[in-house]
Amino acid sequence: MSTSTIRERLEEIRRQALEALSQSLEPAQVESVRVRVLGRNGELTELIRSLRSLPEHERPVVGQLANQLKRELEERIEALARELRRRRIEQSLAQPALDVTLPGMEFGRGRIHPLTQITGQILEIWTAMGFEVALTPDIEDDFHNFGALNFPPDHPAREMQDTFFLEGGRLLRTHTSNGQIRVMERRRPPLAVVCPGTCYRRDELSVRYSPMFSQLEGFMVDDFGKVTMAHLKGTLTEFLRAFFGPEADVRFRASFFPFTEPSAETDVRCIFCKGAGCRVCKQSGWIEILGCGMIHPNVLRAVGYDPQKHAGFAFGMGLERLALIRLGVEDMRLFFENDLRFLAQF
Ligand code: PHE
Repeated sequence: MSTSTIRERLEEIRRQALEALSQSLEPAQVESVRVRVLGRNGELTELIRSLRSLPEHERPVVGQLANQLKRELEERIEALARELRRRRIEQSLAQPALDVTLPGMEFGRGRIHPLTQITGQILEIWTAMGFEVALTPDIEDDFHNFGALNFPPDHPAREMQDTFFLEGGRLLRTHTSNGQIRVMERRRPPLAVVCPGTCYRRDELSVRYSPMFSQLEGFMVDDFGKVTMAHLKGTLTEFLRAFFGPEADVRFRASFFPFTEPSAETDVRCIFCKGAGCRVCKQSGWIEILGCGMIHPNVLRAVGYDPQKHAGFAFGMGLERLALIRLGVEDMRLFFENDLRFLAQF
């Protein structure tokens, strides 16, 4: 290469580099110009390297020119990079600032639904008394919801419980008494089990009824003679006093269920009027809490037990009812509407 070609080449590198720098708006663009021209294999670096092949007397002049250009470009690049960094900082300072003194965003804290809380307390009482907890299906067949529980095919009690029927003869359980059958058909006495669960009946949602509600079934089976009506009364009284308080007054009234014999309904003295009579207890002074009785021999037979050898008691209670009474709330719908203003109180 002749010195004049080298001079031209130097001039060209300078022109292109300055042009590229003038268009650089980002530090990254400046850096790529630097690499392209001054990097280890950059245009100018290679040119300087190639000067070694020039005759010795020509070297100093072009060498000086090349080094001058190198310094000039280094300085420009450095200055431009500094300027761009400064502009960036100024821009970000000009943005609206975060005001750290503003109050933070509030996130509502979730909590356990009051019905779930009460159910938990009830299960705690029963498990403390030695009962185990079993969950059984909401979707049932006729046998487990009715047949095995001694409802004859056209028994009026079957209509009494307005049932949601599903395809293929299946249905939504109308009570948790299917739990007795489900557990007993798989296991042998002695058994003491409670089955909480959701039940379904064709009722309109109202102050007192809901088409979907919760029950807790319980039963105890052992050798014939070991479990009697007296045990039933003692166990349920114990539970009700644990739940409502030691002074709770409890009474048993004769009743009827196809799956128990004898059957009873259990009331507690109205905790609102202390028995004087009020709207909640419909002036009777008592609030009905649950149904119970000695398991009918036909039910024991249906699960393959011998009623001569085994006996047991069973009971079923509505959980919304217990929760309403405990919380002093009168409207069943409050449990299902999920109005946070109501739920947040508990
Ligand atoms: N299954 C009954 C009902 O739904 C309650 C009950 C359960 C009664 C067990 C007696 C024994 O009303």
